[in-house]
Amino acid sequence: MAFLKKTAKAKTALVTGASGGIGLEFAKIFAQESHDIVMVARDREKLVKNAEEIREKHGVQVIVVVLDLARPGSAQKLFNELEKKKIRVDVLVNNAGFGVAGFFHEESLEKQLEMIQLNVATLVELTYFFANKMVERRSGKILNVSSTAAFQPGPLMAVYYASKAFVLSFSEALRNELGDSGISVTALCPGPTESGFQERADIKTMRLVRGKRLMSPAVVAAAGFDGLMKNKSVVIPGLRNFVMAYAVRVLPRDYVTKTVRRIQEKI
Ligand SMILES: NC(=O)c1ccc[n+]([C@@H]2O[C@H](COP(=O)([O-])OP(=O)(O)OC[C@H]3O[C@@H](n4cnc5c(N)ncnc54)[C@H](OP(=O)(O)O)[C@@H]3O)[C@@H](O)[C@H]2O)c1
Repeated sequence: MAFLKKTAKAKTALVTGASGGIGLEFAKIFAQESHDIVMVARDREKLVKNAEEIREKHGVQVIVVVLDLARPGSAQKLFNELEKKKIRVDVLVNNAGFGVAGFFHEESLEKQLEMIQLNVATLVELTYFFANKMVERRSGKILNVSSTAAFQPGPLMAVYYASKAFVLSFSEALRNELGDSGISVTALCPGPTESGFQERADIKTMRLVRGKRLMSPAVVAAAGFDGLMKNKSVVIPGLRNFVMAYAVRVLPRDYVTKTVRRIQEKI
């Protein structure tokens, strides 16, 4: 592994799901801000190619970890590997995630449990391991990628929406617990964003996204980075997403659920 530059003060950002989409944009932004990066995902080829580009452009150290984070025990494995290499994680970006669309009872249970493992369990485990190290040092930042899906139930993506509600609730509570410890926790709640997400979830024909101009992952990651640096609790990129997230609080819950069902139907 070619390390191009190492400054004594360089901080390290660990980004999960950094082979594409929002995670890759996070890796680029942190590198631009002189952070060394640990990029984690399953696709070795994409990771290696993107890592090389980031090293060349920003002269920071980039470590690639090829790992399936939907496997139970993978968080512990990642933590152990970085401990062994004596890599101090200053910023943890829990970004890796995917969605499953369709009627809950008809979709594969295995796939939906795998999604819970990645979106929820691995995120909690990584947060646990790295937060403890951060508390020892009394410094660190955690950014958890939730979604605007977190603010209401999501028929036809029921488990995905619930997983993102978990991430938001967990992040806000953890932020409160860690209040005086020098560690900040931020939840990023993007709306529909142009990435590999729609293809993997097979939702390109959903009313919510079909024919719509989706937000760019670079803009979403920049908003997340900015919010993290400003120690914001929750970041919702885009005015429309922001207004919708707050509007659902005052609308009748049943009406909101029915409306989400409609926009989640494929056309
Ligand atoms: N796009 C949207 O509309 C949207 C909206 C709100 C929130 N989000 C959230 O944003 C986050 C990033 O998604 P994205 O939009 O950037 O989607 P994406 O383009 O599909 O990127 C997902 C990233 O997660 C990685 N990943 C997926 N499964 C993994 C696994 N089992 N182990 C390790 N890494 C895995 C993928 O890499 P590999 O395939 O190489 O493993 C990829 O790097 C997710 O948490 C998603 O729920 C997305």
